[in-house]
Amino acid sequence: MDIAEVLKLADELLFMHTGDRLDHLQETILKGTLQGQKYAKIASENNLSEGHVRDTASELWQKLSDVLGEDVNKLNPRSILEKFIICNKVSGNYISIHQLSFCSIQNRSPKSSPLSKPTANKPYLDIDNAPEITAFYGRTDELNTLKTWLIQDCPRIITLVGIIGVGKTTLAIKLIEQIQTQFEYIVYRSLRYCPTIDSFLTDLLPTLISPIIPNTLARQVDVLLKFLRKHRWLIIIDDVEMIFQARELAGQYKAEFAGYALLFKQIAELSHASSWLLISSEQPEDAIATRHKFTRCLKLAGLGESAKQILKDKELSDEQMWDTLIEKYQGHPLWLEMTATMIEELFAGKVTEFLAVPDLVLSNAIASQLSRLWIKLTESEKQVMNYLAKQEDAVTLLHILQEISHHPTDLLKAIQSLKRRCFLEDTTNCIGTIHGEHHRSSLLRINPILKYYLLSLPSLPT
Ligand SMILES: Nc1ncnc2c1ncn2[C@@H]1O[C@H](COP(=O)(O)OP(=O)(O)OP(=O)(O)O)[C@@H](O)[C@H]1O
Ligand SMILES: [Mg+2]
Repeated sequence: MDIAEVLKLADELLFMHTGDRLDHLQETILKGTLQGQKYAKIASENNLSEGHVRDTASELWQKLSDVLGEDVNKLNPRSILEKFIICNKVSGNYISIHQLSFCSIQNRSPKSSPLSKPTANKPYLDIDNAPEITAFYGRTDELNTLKTWLIQDCPRIITLVGIIGVGKTTLAIKLIEQIQTQFEYIVYRSLRYCPTIDSFLTDLLPTLISPIIPNTLARQVDVLLKFLRKHRWLIIIDDVEMIFQARELAGQYKAEFAGYALLFKQIAELSHASSWLLISSEQPEDAIATRHKFTRCLKLAGLGESAKQILKDKELSDEQMWDTLIEKYQGHPLWLEMTATMIEELFAGKVTEFLAVPDLVLSNAIASQLSRLWIKLTESEKQVMNYLAKQEDAVTLLHILQEISHHPTDLLKAIQSLKRRCFLEDTTNCIGTIHGEHHRSSLLRINPILKYYLLSLPSLPT
């Protein structure tokens, strides 16, 4: 091992065990002793007293001795650290000591080194796997809300929820651009390929903290929390819905991913300085998204007026009809993109002609997205959806309970779950004035595109 590797390993081992990095003087002392310098020389070269260097060195040897379980002194740090690697090598990149595993530094890519420490206003960014955004319109309010939360409130977990394709990932990537200077580390991970909690943490820990990976989940979470306390991280976890169970109420973890539920719960409940942004098309069922003082939830709707830019990019004509088009497709960026492509291909870009088609048109791409959503629902949810699809206007909760012959508790759970999937919209309505006071009732209606999808099928699906 050369001097740089010894320094790196010592730094990481200390960091792992104590949460502290080698400071400048410790690094200088370790480097000097590895070069065979005496304490007096190190002291004079750094304008320090020999006594101070000696005391600092003795503290350092003690710390390293504690970490390595061997008596480290100025004569042996390199040999003990080399022995640490050789003695504990099991295979390939991993070696173990006591209950730890160690991923060989030499084999790690420079990108993943936790030693590329953030500098002022320049966080350590690990966002290579985040999709690139090609266009970004609107979302000023949403960005401001997220920035205010992250900068002023410092919540431990923010859940960003929205129906498929509404722009959750795009918003999060834009947020990274605008919030970088507030964090020491920003990390993006997707659960698209359903990593086990073990492989998720085994990937996350060495990237951010240290090559040393404890071999039990509890220890891994402990280590993670230790560093979350010391540093201000923003950890973005996308596609969280992938670890939820289909044909169960929204946001319930599949049994094999229960470890994530535990992790997120701890992140929400234990004190630390970092923030996690969980992105999902289903709000998690547990309390993290709603109840905890240190958590926030942002539900994402369409782009509204800003969606005009999408139609402009597609070079559609009949601008006077764009508002109608946007309203019909809820300002949903992906549905509008898909529809605009259809208008380009079939109507030479003429929005008026497209809107003259008596029915709302759902492209194949939209319909197949919706059918994938549909098969994830429970039977009770489907019943509620089928009922609401047939209603002209928004209806009250009580009305639904009276009209659908099903156990009320089941129905309530189904409605709550549909709201967590962003399939139902809440509106409030003034139902009258009693003693001069306005009384409002909450009304529910199905997302109009979903309604259209269901009604356009030959028979309402089950
Ligand atoms: N603010 C925006 N401005 C312009 N286009 C946008 C915006 N938000 C989203 N889009 C467009 O919509 C598409 C879908 O967005 P995105 O992938 O962010 O949605 P999502 O909610 O993360 O979807 P999923 O649920 O599938 O993960 C993007 O590819 C992009 O083209
Ligand atoms: Mg996404």
